[in-house]
Amino acid sequence: MIDTTQYAGRVALVTGARRGVGRIVSEHFLSRGAEVVGLARGEPTIDHPRYRHCRVDLADAEAIQAVFADLRGTVEHVDIVVNNAAVLTSQYAMIMPAGAAQAMVNVNLLAPFMVSREAAKLMRKRKWGRIINIGSMAVSLEPVGDSVYAACKAGLSTMANVMAREFASFNVTCNTIAVTAIDSDMLRQLPRDKVEAIIERLPLPRFAEGDDILNVIDFLASERSSYITAQTIFLGGVN
Ligand SMILES: NC(=O)c1ccc[n+]([C@@H]2O[C@H](COP(=O)([O-])OP(=O)(O)OC[C@H]3O[C@@H](n4cnc5c(N)ncnc54)[C@H](OP(=O)(O)O)[C@@H]3O)[C@@H](O)[C@H]2O)c1
Repeated sequence: MIDTTQYAGRVALVTGARRGVGRIVSEHFLSRGAEVVGLARGEPTIDHPRYRHCRVDLADAEAIQAVFADLRGTVEHVDIVVNNAAVLTSQYAMIMPAGAAQAMVNVNLLAPFMVSREAAKLMRKRKWGRIINIGSMAVSLEPVGDSVYAACKAGLSTMANVMAREFASFNVTCNTIAVTAIDSDMLRQLPRDKVEAIIERLPLPRFAEGDDILNVIDFLASERSSYITAQTIFLGGVN
């Protein structure tokens, strides 16, 4: 039985809300009563009276600030942020295009920095907030080809840990969920045999499902996690 009031009165901002994990998370919040602000490059794929879509290139820090300038005048508060959007180019370091490496740094690390700090300014007013980053098992597994991607995800956790200290006095927690492989456009761009070889070696050797991520999000977004901050929770038994 779905609790349609679980997130009533909450505003959740989800980056990368159009597809994959971000869409799953956005639809979950909506089905449980939240208002959702979704950020992505493309046109909206979610049609819901409590959903608002902002088209933005998260690689552009000034564009992120412009989104928040607009939000400050149009939403009363932002309570939950899920920094989910990311790009992946998996390639040997010696032949990784510089532009692809730069794009990962911009979208996977600098964008969550900008979104988190702008959201924290809004959360501070109500003295409550939850910042949840979507990290990756790549931080621990360090797969060949993922030098920049894994480094960005490691940086994402570290960034959340520092922000956790900075934002603690106004009741804003910052945590990271390091997810394992889940069916999405991002995953489908990788060779299937490479992904399956990684999955086979996990303590829990299966792909992640949406619920595996949502269960942790529900906890981290709730009142019950008020004494949990600066943590990275690895799915699938990865450590
Ligand atoms: N899938 C996996 O197996 C896996 C494993 C470990 C970790 N993760 C992490 O899980 C998260 C979600 O991944 P996913 O698999 O759902 O990815 P995905 O299917 O590729 O979706 C990525 C989303 O991010 C948005 N995005 C990317 N670049 C953007 C930019 N410059 N500006 C605005 N939006 C941008 C996309 O927007 P548009 O739709 O507008 O393009 C899209 O909505 C990521 O943080 C990823 O690193 C995924």
